Amino acid sequence: MSDAAEERRASELRRLIEDANYRYYALDDPAIPDVEFDRQLRELQDLEAAHPELLTPDSPTQRVGAGPLKDFAQVAHDVPMLSLNNAFSEGEVAAFDRRVREGLGREGLELEDETEYAVEPKFDGLAITLRYERGVFVRGATRGDGATGEDVSANLRTIRAIPMRLAGDNPPAVLEVRGEVLMLRRDFDQLNQEACDKGEKTFVNPRNAAAGSLRQLDSRITAKRRLHFFSYGIGRVEGVELPATHSEIMDWLATLRMPVARQRRVVSGVSGLMAYFKALGEQRSTLPFDIDGAVYKVNRLADQERLGFVSRAPRFAIAHKYPAQEELTEVEGIDVQVGRTGALTPVARLKPVFVGGVTVTNATLHNEDEARRKDVRVGDTVIVRRAGDVIPEVVGSLPERRPMRDLATPLHEPFVMPAVCPECGAPVLRLEGESATRCTNGLACPAQRKQAILHFASRRAMDIEGLGDKLVEQLVDRGLARTPADLYALGLEQLAGLERMAQKSAENLLSAIAASRHRPLARFIFALGIRQVGEQTAKDLARHFGKLDAIQGATADTLLQVPDVGPVVAASIAAFFRESHNQAVIEALRRVQAWVDGEAQAVPPGRFAGKTFVLTGTLPNLTRDQAKARIEAEGGKVAGSVSGKTDYVVAGAEPGSKLVKAEQLNIEILDETAFLYLFDKGEPPR
Ligand code: IVH
Repeated sequence: MSDAAEERRASELRRLIEDANYRYYALDDPAIPDVEFDRQLRELQDLEAAHPELLTPDSPTQRVGAGPLKDFAQVAHDVPMLSLNNAFSEGEVAAFDRRVREGLGREGLELEDETEYAVEPKFDGLAITLRYERGVFVRGATRGDGATGEDVSANLRTIRAIPMRLAGDNPPAVLEVRGEVLMLRRDFDQLNQEACDKGEKTFVNPRNAAAGSLRQLDSRITAKRRLHFFSYGIGRVEGVELPATHSEIMDWLATLRMPVARQRRVVSGVSGLMAYFKALGEQRSTLPFDIDGAVYKVNRLADQERLGFVSRAPRFAIAHKYPAQEELTEVEGIDVQVGRTGALTPVARLKPVFVGGVTVTNATLHNEDEARRKDVRVGDTVIVRRAGDVIPEVVGSLPERRPMRDLATPLHEPFVMPAVCPECGAPVLRLEGESATRCTNGLACPAQRKQAILHFASRRAMDIEGLGDKLVEQLVDRGLARTPADLYALGLEQLAGLERMAQKSAENLLSAIAASRHRPLARFIFALGIRQVGEQTAKDLARHFGKLDAIQGATADTLLQVPDVGPVVAASIAAFFRESHNQAVIEALRRVQAWVDGEAQAVPPGRFAGKTFVLTGTLPNLTRDQAKARIEAEGGKVAGSVSGKTDYVVAGAEPGSKLVKAEQLNIEILDETAFLYLFDKGEPPR
């Protein structure tokens, strides 16, 4: 190639790569396959290496990060970066609107003169300013104290949603774009998953992950953490006539290829603001990024100017906050509970805290590794999170708040798993490759006995109404029930001796126990509480074998013929039935006719017979149960985790690690539209 041809090619490649970046990162709508993108990037890198004079500061090859800095340089902001006042209720929003109307001399006017507001999400990230000169990115800085921030340009260059050159032929002489750097939830989940796999400490939330990534002195590290950016305003502008409203400015920024939130709107008056707040709140848990409120801005710039500022916040804008999904509280203790399979679960007992709409008093730490990874200690201040309907969790502790015993030793001791079962004193054991530590005493451990009986009686198992945990506790502690089979031998006299057990309730319980006999085989198998055997596997086993005898006599190899039963599940089933104690309990239950064997059934005919689906994330329209019902109605099955046997993964918003696994295993992934298409046409869209 001649020099001129190489220069043309380099500039063409830069354009193609930035186009692809824009489609992928700003619009979430990839235009070319990854391999093609990689090929173009490599070609440009090679060209620039051979001809260093072709390298420009806005080249996409510069997004991989540079060497470490000693420190960030200070940047004085041309236009200060202010903060927003907050509103937490409709009353406070109405007061804000009233102040705006008064400030504009419009109080007392009629409905048609309601104030027009530009409304948008309040992104939960970090404020950033980006400076473009003649369309080229020259510098970016954090907010700092509002007057002076830190120059994080090298890190910002690695964020592919941030254009290194503005689109359009007529760029302004100077344009400062203000916005928020954040991490999308899917990238956060992936980052934490990777940290977890490597045994490293995880980030507590996407905001912390974004902050930690942006403040790296070595931008090569930032380049590895996928950060994102949304603009929400402008700072200094030279050489261009601005439109009359904020919403038009946002539209203009979008034409320059600045990422702007799709969720932005223009509304009128308090009712418009409140309707937007509600609608955005309903979407909150399914948005790809965290928000902590909505921001309302008087739309006309001339009005904004008239209203001006009070101290460090504008009078023309306000942040309307949602109730916090994260709160701080203290760990008062860590209890260790023993479950049905003997697994020891550390549970943090918390100083009650109101978060995500409920009062939380305890949260599971799952197992030894989780407790250690989160390094939660008695006395610690921790972050508790409850988002949507998700079970509250301790996301992490704040070690910097730990009081110190001396200069080097914190007062709070790390959590250690007890060496013996807290319920029965038997030794505990953690097998290699397992995350659970278990009591080795099996059903001789009263805690396991209680849990086994409770599970047996539970609604989806034998469904014995009225047999709750308080009763089971007494039955086991008094030696009245050692196994589920003993329930059927209970008499009125024994029950009448229990606490809070009137004659009538005893009679009701006995008839509920009697009524639980003759349950279908699948329920009975599930009720046995075999490890790894959930409701679906129990159904599969009943359908495949038809009789309990046949399952009892099956070898691990025979069990492998059951759809979706893998080696681990097969081994667990075979081991359960080999155990003489279990055989004795089953014989006793056979004598009372606890179950009826069913005929082995063929797989129901259906277009998706033999196909396994995994559902993950929230679909926009279908509930999980609706999607499951559609799959099962056509003979398909829904599995809980992704494996080589999975045929399709149906992914909605906030899909989590199942999606990552599906991508790794190259399993076909469907969104809701593709899923519905599949059920309509019998094959996925191509
Ligand atoms: S406007 C003059 N719009 O909230 C006001 N800020 O407390 C400039 N933020 O530091 C801010 N989303 O980082 C604005 N849509 C949005 C926002 C937003 C998040 C942050 C911003 C700022 C803080 C103000």
